[in-house]
Amino acid sequence: MTREHTVLFVDDEVNILKALQRLLRNENMNVVCASRGSEALEIMEKIPAQVVVTDQRMPEMTGVDLLSQVRERHPDVVRMMLTGYTEMNIAVEAINRGEIYRLITKPWNDDELRATIRQAFEQSDLKDEIKRLNQITREQNFKLQDMNRNLEAKVRERTKQLAAKHQELQTAYVQTVGALAEAVDAKDSYTRGHSERVGVYASKIAREMCFPKEFIERVYIAGLLHDVGKIGVPDRVILKPDKLNKEEYDLIKQHPEIGAKILEPVSFLSDVVPCVRHHHEWFDGCDRGYPARLVGDQIPLPSRIILVADTVEAMTSDRPYRKALDLDAVNSELTKYAGSQFDPTCVEAFLRLLGREGESFIKKDQKFDIYEFIEG
Ligand SMILES: [Fe+2]
Ligand SMILES: [Fe+2]
Repeated sequence: MTREHTVLFVDDEVNILKALQRLLRNENMNVVCASRGSEALEIMEKIPAQVVVTDQRMPEMTGVDLLSQVRERHPDVVRMMLTGYTEMNIAVEAINRGEIYRLITKPWNDDELRATIRQAFEQSDLKDEIKRLNQITREQNFKLQDMNRNLEAKVRERTKQLAAKHQELQTAYVQTVGALAEAVDAKDSYTRGHSERVGVYASKIAREMCFPKEFIERVYIAGLLHDVGKIGVPDRVILKPDKLNKEEYDLIKQHPEIGAKILEPVSFLSDVVPCVRHHHEWFDGCDRGYPARLVGDQIPLPSRIILVADTVEAMTSDRPYRKALDLDAVNSELTKYAGSQFDPTCVEAFLRLLGREGESFIKKDQKFDIYEFIEG
């Protein structure tokens, strides 16, 4: 602590002031004197004293009054009273009211008085130090709060950016794989747009079944990608207009497995993989289903929905060996195979939709935005 120590003595007796100055001559402090209360207050406006020692009985203003004003104007100043035994009651009262830090009696003991003044400075320095530390703590708290706010904002911003990037990547990937599926469909003029339409029909059925939007989205993506494995099936099989022989049929039956293998390395499509793998299982688990001959609930629900959508799409599109079938034919085919090939609840949901929408359900050029559809 390097600040200068100043003590102010107030007494109307010049001799006492002189004696006090002499007493503290060799101490490392400034000694300032005033002979009246008003003078003391004036001095304090100009000179920052840390300690004030006053007599009680003075003209104009008593010591107690002076200290009470000092307390008001300079609350940090240490206030002491130097008084004779006759004014002891007044002084004690002032101490009790908190006006005075300490009382020194006249006549004083030199060593005691010096020690008391020193203690008063220590007390003042201590208060000052506490104030300083509090101030630093407050400032640091502000800084910390500020940093926290900045940090939170940064984290929020980065999280948003990452989420956007993630969404971008996801969309890009789905588009890429969707383009692959489209490329497969496009090999054959008869199946152009098949995958996209299966995605659309399947998500409509899923919504009809009141599933949450995450599920509907998954059904759509799985529908879009369900035949992506056909890319690994030779063109001569894919493009063959006639009935397939046993060897060719075995090759085409590999497309769900190949599709699953293509999608497997992509972590965010992990829940789409089984839907693609099992989209040709039969609900009753018979050997016409593939690749795993799963039964009922064992088959992922999106796969069961996709199978219905896939059948509807295939039946209502032209094929080299037949024209597109009408909705009555679709209706009776699905009804006939509900419970054996198809999950009856998926068929019911589709038939409800068909009852409401009729021909417009299978309109080939319907504009479809999955996110708009889910929200809507
Ligand atoms: Fe398929
Ligand atoms: Fe298909």
